[in-house]
Amino acid sequence: MIYDPKHTSFFGAEPWWKTATFYQVYPASFADSNGDGWGDILGVISKLPYLHRLGVDCIWLSPCFDSPQVDMGYDVSDYQAIYQPYGTVDDVDRLTEACHALGLKLILDLVVNHTSDQHPWFQTSRSSRDSSKRDWYIWRPARYTDQGERLPPTNWRSYFAGGTWTWDEHTQEYYLHLYAPCQPDLNWDNPDVRRAVYDETMRFWLERGVDGFRIDTVNKYSKDTRFVDASVTDPSSPWQAAPEMWCNGPNIHEYLREMHKEVLGPYSAVSVGELSNCPETADVIPYVQASDPQMSMCFQFDLIRLGTGGGFGDKYIYRPFSLSTLKGLTEKWQTFIDGTDAWTTVFMENHDNGRAVSRFGCTDTAQQWQASAKMLALWQATLSGTLFLYQGQEIGMVNMPRNRGIEDYKDVESRGFYNEALKSGDEDRVRKTMDGLRTLARDHARTPMQWDAGPFAGFSTAEPWMRVNDWTLDVVNVSAQEDTEDSVLRFYRSVLRLRKEYVDLFVFGRFQLLEPEDEDVFAYLKESPAQKGDVDSGQRRKALVVLNFSNEAQKCPSAAMALQCAEEEVRLLVGTVRLVGDGKGSLRAWEGRVYINF
Ligand code: GLC
Ligand code: CA
Repeated sequence: MIYDPKHTSFFGAEPWWKTATFYQVYPASFADSNGDGWGDILGVISKLPYLHRLGVDCIWLSPCFDSPQVDMGYDVSDYQAIYQPYGTVDDVDRLTEACHALGLKLILDLVVNHTSDQHPWFQTSRSSRDSSKRDWYIWRPARYTDQGERLPPTNWRSYFAGGTWTWDEHTQEYYLHLYAPCQPDLNWDNPDVRRAVYDETMRFWLERGVDGFRIDTVNKYSKDTRFVDASVTDPSSPWQAAPEMWCNGPNIHEYLREMHKEVLGPYSAVSVGELSNCPETADVIPYVQASDPQMSMCFQFDLIRLGTGGGFGDKYIYRPFSLSTLKGLTEKWQTFIDGTDAWTTVFMENHDNGRAVSRFGCTDTAQQWQASAKMLALWQATLSGTLFLYQGQEIGMVNMPRNRGIEDYKDVESRGFYNEALKSGDEDRVRKTMDGLRTLARDHARTPMQWDAGPFAGFSTAEPWMRVNDWTLDVVNVSAQEDTEDSVLRFYRSVLRLRKEYVDLFVFGRFQLLEPEDEDVFAYLKESPAQKGDVDSGQRRKALVVLNFSNEAQKCPSAAMALQCAEEEVRLLVGTVRLVGDGKGSLRAWEGRVYINF
């Protein structure tokens, strides 16, 4: 099936990144070229032909800059140097060239809400109260109780548990950090800080040829500078959730417009921002509308946070959810751009969440694992917006085995929540936290990429920094799946190609949810802006996607009825199971199909 050029005119003027498939590489765990147990840039280069063949168009490389690695590089100590185990600036230049030679683009991770406390900017800032860079970070005096006890300026809870302020003995003030104490927040209200971010981080890399950035924590730069206490929602803790104090703050759009005008626009750089705590569609639109350029696109997290507990402190207390909830959220973030000039993204994994098959599919048996991994692939590949994949997703990598203990969890956030539960002395809370971590922890996405079934999964010749996930490693690896016709990997490859062939339906089509209450089958229509048959036929090209999200066979909705056409005009375009007879029989457990009306 060749993509019909008649329909390309609808999208000819659209930017490349709308139809592109992005692939996130987590460098520590992707490929180790020199046998030290850490992935590296040369390792990434060695795998580019694989990624090219998979059908991706742009690589997003998670932070590789110099860093003490308290938060896996999201704590940068030098934006112009590469963390030595990853390689050198020259290596990144080589990576850029190698990507471009294959027609791939490369974006880096821009982490500028905060720096590491080892960054020279912070070292200068903390050196004295009248340092030239004092105001580059957010310093505030202590508060004191009537008894003279010293208290931080506010009661805000940080993302990794604990408060958001750390006392600096040397200058006798507190500094703000939304994340770990070693990740002090930059003061974006200071124009010198913004200039330094543009010149010394962004321009430095754009001048070297990278194509843009994934922008970390992009809606948190503008804080509520009244620095008042958040209302108490967790009476058992001194620290209270306070995202309203820093998410979507008063100057955020001004700063992002400026960033676009100064840097992103002039370089025609693509940008995708991480937009957390932003549940209202009306708050998301302004970030990504074409008429008021700030970012190209953003990640909204409602879907990927399914199963996490409410609020900050309960994040890892698992909260079951229904399929209808998942459908409703899909619908919300598929349709919110209808009738606007904004754009959306599609993703179900990244380095901050558990693996999708373990959360939305089934891993009870290898057979269920394979069926559900393919069904989830079909779900993602048929949704509108720019598609993002995370390394290992394309081979159906799963969470670490549930019997592993906290010692196999390395992430600062996992450890923070676990230690907090321990400290509470509440055994039930410890048990529930560990249970939640087993499904939701960021660690699950960070185990080494599984290239083959050999020692250390072909990731490295030495003991990797994180233990290999050996759950059915004989099938969950690239090499085995290359050789197997009905593998998850081969299925991803084929649906990524179909997504491009039917870009009008799958990337630009209008999403319409069917049977919202059905708790087993997820069915939706995609309607193309293009006409069916010749241009004037008056009937649109449509696709019906049916996904069985259950362990049982389910009745398949009538495709002809859903597509509103005669039985003989309906065609099965693709399915997760090869032989489905005439394509009308019931759906097997975890089976997915797509029908079209042309
Ligand atoms: C973002 C990153 C996450 C990191 C945090 C602090 O949420 O995705 O990995 O810990 O920012 O930089
Ligand atoms: Ca290495």
